[in-house]
Amino acid sequence: MTDNSSALRSGLSLLLESEGDARFLLQHVCDYLLENIENCDWAGYYLVDPYCKDELFLGPYAGEPTDHVRIGFGEGICGQAAASGKTFVIADVKIESNYLSCSPEVRSEIVVPVFLNHVLIGEIDLDSHLQGGFSREDRILLEWLAGFTSELAEQLRKGVAEN
Ligand code: SME
Repeated sequence: MTDNSSALRSGLSLLLESEGDARFLLQHVCDYLLENIENCDWAGYYLVDPYCKDELFLGPYAGEPTDHVRIGFGEGICGQAAASGKTFVIADVKIESNYLSCSPEVRSEIVVPVFLNHVLIGEIDLDSHLQGGFSREDRILLEWLAGFTSELAEQLRKGVAEN
């Protein structure tokens, strides 16, 4: 497999230098991930609700709409990643008992927590229609991206809460 991580990092860094508010920029990040990460069929941000700190709400995403617009900590893969603060790489969602299905076509998923000043503020979630769709390189890239976009995620989270 070709490791194009540095090209992806450059593309994302360049994109994040554009003018625009947090929602606009994170939407473009999701579109970029869907377009450029091999095997990716859905990419989105979930953010921790500032008023209900054990719930995530759906932020910008690219791909088919999902029913899971709010997810409690501990529920599904996203909720488990939020509760533990750890990255989850699920090679086969069909063998997971605590899993929320976004689409019957999804076979694998990666969820990476987003921290700001050591506080969990959200996560990046990618789905694939392929079993074992995500690699170690994807994980490293997404963990870098989580740090790189944490300020934007926080601006969006707080902005949504203030509206
Ligand atoms: N599969 C996730 C829910 C989010 S959708 O995939 C977009 C989960 O189990 O938490």
